[in-house]
Amino acid sequence: MKLFIDSADIEEIKEAYSYGIIDGITTNPSLIKKAVDKYGKIKIKDYIKKILKIAKNTPVSLEVLSANYKAMVQEANTLYKAFNPVAKNVVIKIPVDPSFGHNDNHFDGVKAIRTLARKKVPVNATLIFTPEQALLAAKAGARYVSPFLGRFDDFIRAMYKMKFKKEDYFPMHGHKAGWNYNGVYSGVDLVAQIVQILENYDTEVLAASIRNVRQLRECALVKADVATVPFKVIKEMVVHKKTEEGMINFTKDIVVEYAEMLRRKR
Ligand code: G3P
Repeated sequence: MKLFIDSADIEEIKEAYSYGIIDGITTNPSLIKKAVDKYGKIKIKDYIKKILKIAKNTPVSLEVLSANYKAMVQEANTLYKAFNPVAKNVVIKIPVDPSFGHNDNHFDGVKAIRTLARKKVPVNATLIFTPEQALLAAKAGARYVSPFLGRFDDFIRAMYKMKFKKEDYFPMHGHKAGWNYNGVYSGVDLVAQIVQILENYDTEVLAASIRNVRQLRECALVKADVATVPFKVIKEMVVHKKTEEGMINFTKDIVVEYAEMLRRKR
């Protein structure tokens, strides 16, 4: 499974890439806002270019802002023309259904994906909450589909009036309780169903809205192609109390001759 960082924070991105295990970046308007709030006035065009250069040969998703077919395609073209030449790694994020619940333009996202895919612009179909939406996006030619698994868990927990913290894993006791929405039992189950449905498509399943390492691991177990995670979760991946304790004990036990031998080699 590929590991993307879900961030528009250039310092986090730099640090995560320095580990040598990051395969791409996803951004969205909220993440861009967070970066602007943190760094104050930034020249957004230069800032994005810097991020694209850090990512080098790995894909970076940039999202459109509008909510109708024509404007989304226009914005996608603007973003792609302005930024893809920098490092040839831009992916355009299009919401699968940008309608805000209005009846007239539910399919504008799917149509925009189709148009861009025909022009060979890689698309990441975002805000996916059902396997059906993923199927439509894949049929339209999306390069990636992004099920928002943490937010799907929020949705089920709110439906069943459960109290929870954003980073809590769900469901603690498997699917036994039967909590589900239309046959989907959790965010990870949403990812699993999409992986199975898209087996014969070129579209990659990009698990998003991941809040803890267990969700991340389960995405790998159900064979998601990609997981995009906040920097905090990347950092949590490497930590275990017993690893730290083991290091302390090994260090205590170092034999002088062994240490001297290594010092001489330096
Ligand atoms: O990639 C989507 C992600 O940024 C949303 O995460 O935790 O706000 O649902 P979250």
